[in-house]
Amino acid sequence: MRSFSARLIGWQEHAGRRDLPWQNTRDAYRIWISEIMLQQTQVATVMPYYRRFLDVFPDVQSLAAASIEAVLRLWSGLGYYRRAHLLHRAAQEIVGRHGGAFPRDAATLATLPGIGRSTAAAIAAFAYGERGAILDGNVKRVLARHQGVEGHAADPAVLRALWARAEELLPRAEIEPYTQALMDLGAMVCLRSTPDCARCPVAADCVAWRENRIDELPLTRPRQPLPQREVAVLLIERGGEILLERRPPIGIWAGLWSLPEVACANDVTAYCRDRFGAEVAAGVALMPIDHGFTHFRLRLTPLPCSIAYWPTRVEDSGHSACVWLPLPEATSAALPAPIKKLLRSLATQQATV
Ligand code: ADE
Repeated sequence: MRSFSARLIGWQEHAGRRDLPWQNTRDAYRIWISEIMLQQTQVATVMPYYRRFLDVFPDVQSLAAASIEAVLRLWSGLGYYRRAHLLHRAAQEIVGRHGGAFPRDAATLATLPGIGRSTAAAIAAFAYGERGAILDGNVKRVLARHQGVEGHAADPAVLRALWARAEELLPRAEIEPYTQALMDLGAMVCLRSTPDCARCPVAADCVAWRENRIDELPLTRPRQPLPQREVAVLLIERGGEILLERRPPIGIWAGLWSLPEVACANDVTAYCRDRFGAEVAAGVALMPIDHGFTHFRLRLTPLPCSIAYWPTRVEDSGHSACVWLPLPEATSAALPAPIKKLLRSLATQQATV
């Protein structure tokens, strides 16, 4: 039987993805942006974000010189905003500490914010042909099944075993198609719950396949129900403009613009008095919006508010700032996805009445 890597490389040629916008280039900057966006996000979702991002920031210099606000605006809706903060910081390090020259090996890449061992190896493979193992979530699943690695990948000993297998299986040459093939196999064939083993080029010696244990490998933790949090978000409108507040620099949606938020509807009047020196009353709540994060679920209840008194000038306080924007303009600010969706639907409603 041909080696694992030879079969994967052969499969990649006819069945893998070969025309993605970040392929067929050696530009490490473009490859880096794609790998960061593709962490935790699927290819189809990433595509339009990737194109827009590169139109605005075609190189590391333009990204380093940008404000975090401009970066977040382009990331708005993609989620996991920490990635955008780290990407921006890494660009500034490349310009500040590496003289603007993109690091040329995986070891140096891995010293940059947001670039772990697997991402560094993927960038170095695609940009420079450097031979190195990757081990993202999909690849962990492929190797756990094919190699019959037992246990949770969260267990350091299991993780070490997976890295060791990933290293052993590397081909001597053709690291680029091999790396892409592993990613594609995980994303297209060796799926978590419905793997298509009939189309798998390495099923013949797959331990999970041979032992009929596809649904036992990899071992997944029994999922705890996620805790649920609830907040109210305030729709405060004045003269056709809506009030947005910038989120604090840490925590969820760090640095993004959003609607003012209170823990519960009873707090609205006190919050607006303390925060803005305004007299505001909450009206009838709109349909709640549910949004999932990795560690909890969030229920956002939009509360239209009426203003009895608003001071002429709202002082910025601490890290957060506020701004009044016409609804259509507000929808293109750096907003979290559920808030953007809410404001878009309000803008559409207002345009049709
Ligand atoms: N997931 C992570 N990196 C990827 C890439 N380069 N192509 C497709 N999917 C990926």
